[in-house]
Parts: sequence; structure tokens; C-alpha cells
Amino acid sequence: MRRMLLAIPDYFQTERLTVRRYCAGDGPMYWQMAHRNRDHLFPFEAHNAARYLRSEQDAENLVRDFSAQYALRQQFYLGAFDRQSETFVAQIYIGASNWDIPEFSLGYFADVDHEGKGYVTEAAKGALAFIFEHLEAERIILHCSDANPRSADVARRCGFVQEAHLRQSTIMANGQRCGQYFFGLLREEYEQQRAK
Ligand SMILES: CC(C)(COP(=O)(O)OP(=O)(O)OC[C@H]1O[C@@H](n2cnc3c(N)ncnc32)[C@H](O)[C@@H]1OP(=O)(O)O)[C@@H](O)C(=O)NCCC(=O)NCCS
Repeated sequence: MRRMLLAIPDYFQTERLTVRRYCAGDGPMYWQMAHRNRDHLFPFEAHNAARYLRSEQDAENLVRDFSAQYALRQQFYLGAFDRQSETFVAQIYIGASNWDIPEFSLGYFADVDHEGKGYVTEAAKGALAFIFEHLEAERIILHCSDANPRSADVARRCGFVQEAHLRQSTIMANGQRCGQYFFGLLREEYEQQRAK
């Protein structure tokens, strides 16, 4: 796959959201977001880079780094913003796990003030179209803790198939043991679901 020749858009839109690549100047917004979400991200995303920011400059540096990685097709961080208010509501992460298949991983979090409104499912469904159409994926994977039913619910609402459940296979940030669900979605499954 000649990944640098792919025409990859910088954004996509859904009914309520603009989901876009971060850009220079997003630092202040990202710093506020990181501050707001530090505790929210702790249980299941303790290592999220947003939790380690110490200043607005750190945040500006991070969003520019995300943007550079996007340009190089290494990984794709996108912010989901309400189309009307332009408020940040969620983040989508797309990892290039295997360009030969091609296979990508999907990750997400909801802004703490915008959980439970369906924004993550809406952004994640949009991301599936982006990944299959623009990144030419054949398979998308997603994994989450079995102690995080909200995350597994997003995966199921998006049509992912549970491929494995590794019980008591990992340690959470709070030190407790939990299992991990592994989900997958093949191109033909995605196309069948869209045709329904
Ligand atoms: C996991 C996580 C992303 C799930 O977010 P979420 O807000 O529950 O997911 P959605 O945005 O899709 O919202 C779904 C909820 O909104 C409700 N909803 C309200 N309006 C809706 C609409 N228009 N469309 C769809 N759902 C809607 C749904 O009924 C559902 O509610 P329920 O949880 O009571 O069943 C979020 O809890 C989070 O960020 N957690 C911390 C970080 C994390 O765990 N990341 C994932 C690591 S694998």
C-alpha cells in the first residue's frame, strides 16, 4: 500500500458533528479539554497523553504532533465538534495496525460534559466510513476492558463482532484485575450492514 498516495480528507461530517484533524491553534482548546477530562480518563485511559499535559504550550505541541502524524499516515487523531456550537464533544483515534491487510484500530473517548448523548457512537460510525473508504481498510479492530460496558456498547452499536474475551487478563489503573474484549469488523460485514 502506497499510503502517502492516498487522498485522505482532513475531516468528515455526521448529522450533528464535524470530526476533524487537529491543527495549529487548537492548543488552548485542547488544554481546557485535558484539564476537564483528567479524572474522567483515569480508569480506562490512564496513559492518554492528554492526562500528562502541564501547560497550554504542551497542548499546542501535542496537537501539532497529532497533525504531523496524520500527514505521515502514522496514526489519526480527530476531534469531534458539535456542528452548531463548535464545542469539543469527543475524540476519535485511528491506529494503523497493519497497512498490508490493511487493518486499523479504533479508539475513542467522550468529553466528560458530553457523555450519554450518542456523540461517540455517531463519530465512531462516521470513522468506520472514513477508514473503509479513505484508508481502504479490510478490517477494523477495537478492544476495551470488560469493566467498561459503555465502551463495549459503543462497539456493539457500531456493528463490531466480538472475537475474543480474555478474562482477567489485565490490570486496571486502580490496580484491579479485569478482562478484555476484542472486537473486529470486516469490510463485507460493514457493507452488509450499510445495505440493510
Ligand atoms: C466509553 C465512552 C466513550 C462511552 O461514551 P458514551 O457517551 O456512553 O457513548 P455515546 O456518546 O455513544 O452515548 C451513548 C448513550 O447516549 C444515549 N443517547 C442519547 N442521545 C442519543 C442519540 N441521539 N443517539 C444515540 N445515543 C444517544 C444512548 O442511549 C446511550 O445511553 P446509555 O449509556 O444510557 O445507554 C465514555 O464513557 C468515555 O469516554 N469513557 C472514558 C474513556 C473510555 O473509557 N474510553 C474508551 C476506552 S476503550
